[in-house]
Amino acid sequence: MTMARDYDLEKRSSPYATRIAGAHLVPLWTFFKDWFSAEPRPKAIAHLWRYAELKPLLLEAAATVSTADAERRVLVLENPGLAGGNLATDALYAGLQLIMPGEFARAHRHTAAALRFIVEGENTYTAVEGERCYMRPGDFIVTPAWAWHEHRNDSAAPAIWLDVLDVALMRLLGTGFSEHYPEPEFPTQVPPGDSRMRYGRNLLPVGYRRGTGASPIFSYPFDYAFESLDHLRRHGDWDACHGIKLEYIDPTAGGPAIPTLSTFLQLLPKGFATLPYRATAGSVVNVVRGQGRVTIGNDPNAVTFDYAAKDVWVVPSWQFMRIVSDDETVLFSASDEAVHKKLGLWREQRGVIST
Ligand SMILES: [Fe+2]
Repeated sequence: MTMARDYDLEKRSSPYATRIAGAHLVPLWTFFKDWFSAEPRPKAIAHLWRYAELKPLLLEAAATVSTADAERRVLVLENPGLAGGNLATDALYAGLQLIMPGEFARAHRHTAAALRFIVEGENTYTAVEGERCYMRPGDFIVTPAWAWHEHRNDSAAPAIWLDVLDVALMRLLGTGFSEHYPEPEFPTQVPPGDSRMRYGRNLLPVGYRRGTGASPIFSYPFDYAFESLDHLRRHGDWDACHGIKLEYIDPTAGGPAIPTLSTFLQLLPKGFATLPYRATAGSVVNVVRGQGRVTIGNDPNAVTFDYAAKDVWVVPSWQFMRIVSDDETVLFSASDEAVHKKLGLWREQRGVIST
């Protein structure tokens, strides 16, 4: 106890504090309450990036750096609460990537798993392990950990998509590896749509063995997913917190399409007001279509944003979210829920705003 009293909590300047700092030691009692808080205290804050502001800045990047020089031309969505951290939430990286007409982004691979959610573009593909996945707005593309991938825009218009990666987790764990393919382009192995034909039809080739734990399907087209949402709208039950919400899964295992990232497509009809909902996972949300208002945070610190098509917002861990849709709204979201559930850490709270 004498030592604790001798340690100057404010200035850390007592003789004892100086001696332990010199020995590369830190007293736990100075941050114990912060680390072992009663509930999560994310550093990320609620934030919304307006596409009307993002897109011109992203297009400006095309005049600043080529895809060949940049390798990947991305403006990272950096959370204002995580300045210098290059992250959208405490655990998720997110960015908007641009490929101009005729550009090619060379083949590489990394241990961080990635997803693409297409915002604009046509006749543009991501090739994953030699399968070209042509991307249209609203399509969801899986790039599993350590899978070769490259991008090409064969259209006359810019292609823009949202990238979300588990790279913060890889860095935390010290498992970050990456490499270039020796040639710019990984050889085409199979025709486009091959993985969906093999694994996405409620059939499985005999002898199939799971690989990395990610879905063997690389492309989840928007039209298929929305068809299900549209069907459920007419025949299913509306969830008071989520509207109609579907998770993208690995059909060979039933779990999330990417082992570390949960992904969802969600429909809210015009005039729908969701009940408050919060979960331990941090989320990145992309507005596919619609407009309205989203309120994020725990009172009295909740903030409300107007949202429009193609905007992106983030919900930090354990922050309530409520949405009021002024128009029919379709949302894509990616979160670290998959990791929380695998580790037995997942918690959620529905419909209660008092904290
Ligand atoms: Fe990559």
